[in-house]
Amino acid sequence: MTVLVFLDSAYPDGRPADPAVPQLLVSDLGVTRGDGIFESLLAVDGVPRKPDAHLDRLASSAQLLDLQIPVRQAWERAIATALALHFGQGAAGPQGRAAVKLVATRGVEGSGTSTAWVQVSAAPDAARQQTNGIKVLLLDRGYDSMAASRAPWLLLGAKTLSYAVNMAALRYAKEHGADDAIFTSSDGKVLEGPTSTVVLARERDGVRTLLTPERKSGILAGTTQDALFKAAEAAGWELGYGPMVPEDLFAADGLWLASSIRLLVPVRSIDGRELPFSESLNSELAKLADTAL
Ligand SMILES: Cc1ncc(COP(=O)(O)O)c(C=O)c1O
Repeated sequence: MTVLVFLDSAYPDGRPADPAVPQLLVSDLGVTRGDGIFESLLAVDGVPRKPDAHLDRLASSAQLLDLQIPVRQAWERAIATALALHFGQGAAGPQGRAAVKLVATRGVEGSGTSTAWVQVSAAPDAARQQTNGIKVLLLDRGYDSMAASRAPWLLLGAKTLSYAVNMAALRYAKEHGADDAIFTSSDGKVLEGPTSTVVLARERDGVRTLLTPERKSGILAGTTQDALFKAAEAAGWELGYGPMVPEDLFAADGLWLASSIRLLVPVRSIDGRELPFSESLNSELAKLADTAL
């Protein structure tokens, strides 16, 4: 069951609304232009995971879009209200996990006020993918790795509502026999998945390193990858940040896609080419990613 809570200045804790009936005006710029931002975070047994990192990234996306959104405390209160309602209904997903979506649009055309809400629903069960892994295709995103700094209006690095391209990439991957995709830049760098961050593990001369593509290549700053890296560093891993090319993926000892709801999913093949996979390494990293609060 889905719970919906609007951020509304007349309701300090948020205004619960019925998700089963229409709630938006057709002139909302989030609908007509995809002009807005969002976050997806995990809640376990009613407690949100890494809320600060998600609210920081929401603020940074808002800044990139020059969008006025409600203050942090209003989000925190609306999240608490929505989680209390959802978990009060006893409606959480596997192991008490729920997906919390934060959305802010540029609002109804001409109003100058954003429309903002929190939505909570049962988290999809990712256990099978976390254990068995996924097949991935490399797909060209069509931009070079310097596009973010040269063309800030592309909003690369912001989590915008305009995810139709990301969803089209996922559909393309599925139509071609894979489960997911990894974008590459037109100059041959590894970027990110349509809804995830790329993480690889490498052991050389007894030194274990986790690597991820560099953020300045126009990718979203992943909160799961960041939390995993902090936990891994404390556990003795070295850390590294791209640039990364497809050959680095094939030469790794293990490759994962990291995201807040699905956490860590091992990639078992790219473009039909098998990758090394270690169950013990997978569960070691999964534990590190799952402890991040
Ligand atoms: C494009 C993109 N990259 C990376 C991520 C992973 O981010 P996080 O770990 O904060 O969920 C997401 C999450 O949805 C995403 O959409």
